[in-house]
Amino acid sequence: MDHFELKNGVLHAEDVPLPVIAAQVGTPVYVYSRATLTRHARVFRDALGVLRNARIAFAVKSNPNLSVLKVLAAEGYGADVVSGGEMERALAAGMAPDGIVFSGVGKTAAEMRRGIEAGIGQFNLESEEEGLELAEIAASMGRVASAALRVNPDVDAGTHGKISTGKAENKFGVPFDRAAAIYARLAGTPGLNMRGLTLHIGSQLSKLEPLEAAFTKVGGLMEEIRAGGHTVTHMDLGGGIGVPYKAGEVFPQPEEYAAMVARVTGNWGVTLMFEPGRVITGNTGVLVTQVIRVKEGAGNPWVVVDAAMNDLARPALYDAWHDFVAVEPKGETFEANIVGPICESSDTFAMARTIDTVVRGDLAVFRTAGAYGATMANTYNSRPLVPEVMVDGDKWAVVADRIDPATILAAERVPEWLA
Ligand code: LLP
Repeated sequence: MDHFELKNGVLHAEDVPLPVIAAQVGTPVYVYSRATLTRHARVFRDALGVLRNARIAFAVKSNPNLSVLKVLAAEGYGADVVSGGEMERALAAGMAPDGIVFSGVGKTAAEMRRGIEAGIGQFNLESEEEGLELAEIAASMGRVASAALRVNPDVDAGTHGKISTGKAENKFGVPFDRAAAIYARLAGTPGLNMRGLTLHIGSQLSKLEPLEAAFTKVGGLMEEIRAGGHTVTHMDLGGGIGVPYKAGEVFPQPEEYAAMVARVTGNWGVTLMFEPGRVITGNTGVLVTQVIRVKEGAGNPWVVVDAAMNDLARPALYDAWHDFVAVEPKGETFEANIVGPICESSDTFAMARTIDTVVRGDLAVFRTAGAYGATMANTYNSRPLVPEVMVDGDKWAVVADRIDPATILAAERVPEWLA
């Protein structure tokens, strides 16, 4: 459920007509609904209420906008960050350092140092090498870093290959059969407080079974580690729950997910941690775009919109589907291809799709663009960096400016030997 609805024939974000935002900010522009964000955050948090000791670290990569993080911080969310930049955002949004988890295979020494300095709650280690390096840095600072070991459970998440992370051939985590030995070695290293295990098998998962299989496997590993005399107090189960992008698709609900987790982890006796991204932010945003023109094709007409793959990369990268609807639908549909202005064929949002009939100048939106939308935008073809707006009832504000090509050009330098 979201708060992007037709009122008097015009698509609104909560109480704000999208044409009002488009007229003042221009297009393309991401528009987020605060009410939708809050609702998703609460539904997920409340569902986890069946678990005794759950903490949520929002996957900042899915939507790092400062205002989005502020809303989630107010709902008691921590953050799962994967770079120094994301960590600084989470801190700037007022998230408690203790509620921040630092993930990722390539944390640099500088990022580790900064994380320790800031007092972040947990480093999710992706290798023994990384653990030893973190231990050394922490010890040199006279500190102890809390950490969990990421395990690769070798489970097929059944999602798109480019967003699957829990198979042995993926770069993430340590191999399952070596994990207990690595944990034991790291647990004995000064500077480290090894407190648990973590896993994340992939994103946009449509079924709970792969997650259940992976959690069960890692639960067994936890027992093995404890039997070896080591302590496990925290288990971080990652993110990954998918959302419907097409009308009619059915995805696991947070309550079903929580019930499964309760069933599998009932006797673990740990603090459970979660790193949801898309399930919180996916439906909270749309990308508003204007039709530049409709061009005749050999087959279907080409609807050329002013958003492109640099603004919303998911269709080009993962053949992802985003519903496309007119802001003021005329009650008619036609079959068309939807493309952006960028000069490569991957700049295609949809082929042979039946959509609301649109003509030059019409506004339309790509739905479910709140996760992995603006955050993956770039300036390819020297296009502006897309702005973001947040709506709250009848109020709205630009929460990230459009960055003009001129600003980017101004940051470039021509060396003297070229002048
Ligand atoms: N935790 C870790 C360690 C992750 O790598 C990810 C996502 C998450 C949590 C959050 O996963 P979520 O709940 O959002 O599925 N750009 C892709 C998605 C990449 C996901 C990367 N990792 C897309 O647009 O579909």
